[in-house]
This record gives sequence, C-alpha cells and structure tokens, in this order.
Amino acid sequence: MQLAFEHKVPLTPFNTLGLEAFADDFIDIVSVAQLIRLIKGGELAERRIVVLGGGSNVVLNPHVEGVVLRVAIPGRELIGEDDEAWYVRAGAGEAWHDFVRWTLENGWPGLENLSLIPGTVGAAPIQNIGAYGLEMADRFFALEAVDLKSGAVITFDREACRFGYRDSVFKHEAADRFVISSVTFRLPKTWNPMLAYADVAQELERAQVTDPTPIDVSDAVVLIRSRKLPDPGLLGNAGSFFKNPVVSAERFATLAQHYPNLPHYPQADGSVKVSAGWLIDQAGWKGRDLGPVGMYERQALILVNRGGATGEDVLLLADTVRAAVRDRFGVMLEQEPVLI
Ligand code: EPU
Repeated sequence: MQLAFEHKVPLTPFNTLGLEAFADDFIDIVSVAQLIRLIKGGELAERRIVVLGGGSNVVLNPHVEGVVLRVAIPGRELIGEDDEAWYVRAGAGEAWHDFVRWTLENGWPGLENLSLIPGTVGAAPIQNIGAYGLEMADRFFALEAVDLKSGAVITFDREACRFGYRDSVFKHEAADRFVISSVTFRLPKTWNPMLAYADVAQELERAQVTDPTPIDVSDAVVLIRSRKLPDPGLLGNAGSFFKNPVVSAERFATLAQHYPNLPHYPQADGSVKVSAGWLIDQAGWKGRDLGPVGMYERQALILVNRGGATGEDVLLLADTVRAAVRDRFGVMLEQEPVLI
C-alpha cells in the first residue's frame, strides 16, 4: 500500500478540461485503511488537502498547492434488498458510467437516465449530478466519508447531505473536511421509464422502441449525450460550465415579455429555472473562442479547451461570458465546477 507522496505531479491527465497544472504532492487513495493511516500518521497535518475524483467538475489553478488525494477506492456490490428496493454500494473511485451499466446488466434499474455522465461515484453526490429528469439524490440512500481531521468514518444519510440543484453539504460546510469513500443507492423494484424529457422519448421513437427496457433508456441517453456533449477524451470540458439560473416569478415575467422563446422550467416554490445555454447562445457566445478556450458549438453551456489552456484562460472566458449575459439579460450565471 502506497503511503509516500509523489512530488511535482502534472495534473493534466487527471482533469477532464485537460488544463495544464501541477500538484506539489500527490497520492492515489485505494482504500479507507490507507487513508486512515495517512491521517493518523500525521502526514496530512497542517497541509492544504485537495481531493480529486475523476476531475470532471474542477477548474485547476496552474499550481495546485498542497497534497492532492486522488480517490481510486474500488468495489461494487449488492448489499441488501427488501420488498421495495435493491441497495447497491460502490467505492468512490468507480467510474460513474461503468457503475450505472453494471447495475443495469444485473437487473437493478433506476440510474439509466444518468448514463454517460463523466466522473466517479464519489464525486456524484458532491454536486448531485442530474440529467434527463433525474437527479442522483432521487436514488441516493447513504454515503460513507472519512473525516480528514480525526480519521473517523462517518455515515451521511440523504437528509445530512442536503441535496439541492447541483448542490450538497459537500460544497458548503462539509467542503474540504471529508473524503467520500463509498456511496449506497436505493433502486426501487417498481420500475417505470422516465421519459418526461422530450429528447429521450424522441430518441426511443427514432429507434422504434415502444416498450423500453432500462438498457434501452440508457442507450438512448448515451446517444443523445454523444451528439450534444463533447467527449472529454477528445475535447477537454467539464460538462455544463454554469448552472441554469433560478429567477423569481416577477423577474421571469419581465424576461418572458422580451424573450418569449426563453426555455424555462417552473419550480415547486414558484421561482423559474431558465436555460443558461440559451442565454449564452443569444448573447453571441455559442461556438466563440477566447484564447485557447471557447463555448462549444453544439451546446453553448459547455466550456471547451481547444488545447494548452490553463485555469486562468478558463476563468477569463467564464467572466467574459458572465458579463455578456448580465449586460444583455440582467441574469447572473453561477459556475458549476469547483475552483481548485
Ligand atoms: N439551448 C440553446 N442553445 C444552446 C444550448 C441550449 O438554445 O447552445 C436551449 C435548448 O434548445 C434547450 C434548452 O436550452 O431548449 C436546454 O438545453 P439542454 O436540453 O441541452 O439542457 P441544459 O439545460 O443546457 C441540463 C444540465 C445538463 C444535463 C441536461 C439534460 C445543467 C447546468 N445542465 O443542460 O447537465 O445533461 O440538462 O438533462 O443543469 C452538467 O450538469 O454538467 C450537465 C451536462
């Protein structure tokens, strides 16, 4: 078991934006026992600690100070079932999409709408990943995390995670304090395809599937995503770069008067979520570059690295796009990836 740090490690392969950056110190975490030994051995005391999963939701500074812990804890198993659901646990280092496909192949459906999302299982709860009418929180049961101060292993249930739209306690009070080591999902035995999102229904129609299985839905989502979203292996990106902003009912009424085509989604509390991709597109930034980075030509919400970019290039473009949308529509965009 590795307990020594590597020094001056290039992080370009470890972030899906492909930004050029390096870490002072770096170590792969492959088990909870190894992490606890590091903490108890005092190795991490007084150090800045940066936790990386698949690196699919981060913007890295060119020099990442401190120790990078890359979570690579493996494992996936059915840990139990009752009349209503299967309970499936995965190590934080498992690749999200492979895990989703594995559950489907074993006959435990429920995560299919979240197919092909980049990143690891352990990163999924941090921003409560979501797509095509489903959020991870809808299938979440509990997670285990190691307290970086004490080395204690703590269980967080759904309530303790305080999930919101691309949000959780791990982006707030619990940020920088814990390393998520495993996540357990509750997959209900009663299954109905979730086809509320028009794109998914259309894709199944096109494939002439009338009575879809969970794997059919997954395949449809994979096709839609592959068309709209760039493969990070080919073009660096971190998925949606901004959240869809949520505005008050009054604010939306004014916006809708001027822009009747603005795609929008009314929320339970009366507020309205509006499409950031559309705002960026209309502000003239779809397919436009600034230095080595740009907003993707097929989905304006995706910031892409055309080659050789650093975190500074990304933040400059992000600020420029944010200002353009603010000036045009009076709406402030909030960044989705975490700045490290
Ligand atoms: N649109 C434009 N121009 C664009 C992009 C989008 O006009 O350049 C319009 C589309 O026509 C559509 C609307 O905006 O009417 C929404 O676009 P899309 O269906 O592509 O979804 P999104 O709201 O941009 C969200 C999530 C994605 C998720 C998809 C599918 C956020 C920030 N993004 O994108 O999540 O995959 O819905 O459910 O909530 C991610 O978070 O990294 C991510 C990719």
